[in-house]
Amino acid sequence: MTKEELREAFFKQYGAGEEPVYVFSPGRVNLIGEHTDYNGGHVFPCALTIGTYFAARKRADRKVRFFSGNYPQAGTVERTLDSLDYEKSKGFTNYPMGMIWAYGVRYGLHADAGMDVYLWGNIPSASGLSSSASVEVGMGKVLNLLFGWDIPNQEIALCGQYSENNYNGVNCGIMDQFAIAMGKKDNAIFLDTATLEYEYAPIALSGMKIVIACTNKKRGLADSKYNERRTECETALAELQKVIDVNALGDLDEETFEANKDAIKDPVRVKRARHAVYENRRTVRAVELLKGGDVAGFGRLMNDSHVSLRDDYEVTGIELDTLVEEAWKISGVVGSRMTGAGFGGCTVSIVEDGAVDRFIEEVGKNYEAKIGYAASFYVVEIGDGTREY
Ligand code: GLA
Repeated sequence: MTKEELREAFFKQYGAGEEPVYVFSPGRVNLIGEHTDYNGGHVFPCALTIGTYFAARKRADRKVRFFSGNYPQAGTVERTLDSLDYEKSKGFTNYPMGMIWAYGVRYGLHADAGMDVYLWGNIPSASGLSSSASVEVGMGKVLNLLFGWDIPNQEIALCGQYSENNYNGVNCGIMDQFAIAMGKKDNAIFLDTATLEYEYAPIALSGMKIVIACTNKKRGLADSKYNERRTECETALAELQKVIDVNALGDLDEETFEANKDAIKDPVRVKRARHAVYENRRTVRAVELLKGGDVAGFGRLMNDSHVSLRDDYEVTGIELDTLVEEAWKISGVVGSRMTGAGFGGCTVSIVEDGAVDRFIEEVGKNYEAKIGYAASFYVVEIGDGTREY
C-alpha cells in the first residue's frame, strides 16, 4: 500500500484535516530455533516486507477509534482512554489497546488525547507470521509519534510481549516482537533470548528463495496447547534443577541433558525438554554453518528441526507434516520446516530459484489431495523492522 493510498483511506474514514502519522510494521518468519525463546535459548527469525500499515491522528476528546481496512464490515470500533480494560467483544482492537495500557503500566506514559487509527495489513490471517505482534509493535511506534515519546524499538518489543502476556493472555516469548521491531533488510537476527544479545546475519541466498506455505488450517486450540508446552518445559526444568545447577533448558548441552534426563519423571516431559535442548544447540550450529556459506548444511538442520517438532515437541499435525514431507520430495528444496508456534500456521522452505514453480505446484496439489483444501504459497523477502512510513 503506498503512502498516498494509506492517506486517502484514512481521510475517507475519518475526514480530512490534520495530517496523520504513518507507520509500517512487518510480519516475521523464523528460520530455525522454535519453541526455544521461552526456554532461554536462541532463535533466528527475520522481518518480512509484508506487514501492517497504520495512519493515526490525535482527537480532541478521549475516544480511541480503530478501523481496519481488512475488516470493513466491522466498521469503526470505538474505545476510550477512560476504560483501558481488555474487552473480548472488541476483537483485534485489544492488540493496540494493550499497547496504550502497557505504556502506562511500564513507563507511566499516559495518552492525554484520544486518537483515530486506520490499519490495513497484508499478512495472511492466522498464518503464524505474527500479525498480532506486528500490530502491537506498530502501535507502539504510532504512540511514540503521536505523543512525542521516544521508546526505542527494542523496548517497544518488550512492551509488546508484556501486553500480549498480561493483556491478551498469551504466554508468548520475545521472538516475534523482537524480530518485528529489530528486523533488518536481507538479514536474520541471531538472538539469545536469555540475554537479548543479538547479531545480524546476512541471508545471502544467491539463486534461492524463501517460500512460505500456509496450511490454512483454523488454529482453534493453539493458545492453550502453546501454554501447555510452556508448562511442560518449566516442570522438566524444575525436575532437572534437583540434580544439576541450571537456569534454563537453553543452558544445557546435549551431553549434560542425556546424563541427567532421568531426573525428569515423565517420558512426555523428557521429549519436550529434549526438543528444547537440541533445538537450541541446532540453532547455534545452523547459524555457524550459514556464516561459513554452507546453506545446504543449514537446510539439513531445518529439516532436523521439523522432525524434532513433530516427534518430540508434537506441535505439527497432519497439515504441517504434509507440507513439509511433500517439500522434502522436491529436488531443489534445500530445507523445509514448520515455523512459529505450530498446530497449523505455515512452513518455511529454502528453495532453488528453478524449483520454486514446481514446488508450489506439486506441494499444492498433493496437499489438497490429502487434506481436502488448498494451501497458499508466498515467496517472501526479508525487510526492515517497524518504522515511520
Ligand atoms: C509463537 C510465540 C513465540 C515463539 C514461537 C515458537 O510465535 O509467539 O514467542 O515461542 O511461537 O517458537
